[in-house]
Amino acid sequence: MALFRRDRPPVRLAALADLPEDLPRRISTSPPLAVVRHGETVHVFEDRCPHAGAILSRGVLDGNRLTCPIHKGTFEIDTGRSVGGVACRTLRTYPTWVENGDVYMAAEPRGRRSARRAKCGGEDGV
Ligand code: FES
Repeated sequence: MALFRRDRPPVRLAALADLPEDLPRRISTSPPLAVVRHGETVHVFEDRCPHAGAILSRGVLDGNRLTCPIHKGTFEIDTGRSVGGVACRTLRTYPTWVENGDVYMAAEPRGRRSARRAKCGGEDGV
């Protein structure tokens, strides 16, 4: 499933009730995405760490922060911002909403252009 075309309609992800609370899950799309449910809110973001490509859904979630399983870069899952460890560009995140018990996401990520430009840096710089 190619998600980056502008003319694509929203994508139905799952029933909200089928998403486990606070447990990052991988969505097998191209590119792969990760989904995390916090109550009635669902976050979707790229499931590949911009530093060295680790699978972020295998990281450790603490509140709205997810720590990469390899070099411990930490990201806010709602904004995608790099907030600790290895400083990286902002993750691509996708708007989501719940409608009649189903979770939908926009086909286009937020802030795609700025996310492309930035690079990862050294340890502890943000
Ligand atoms: S691969 Fe994620 S911080 Fe290095």
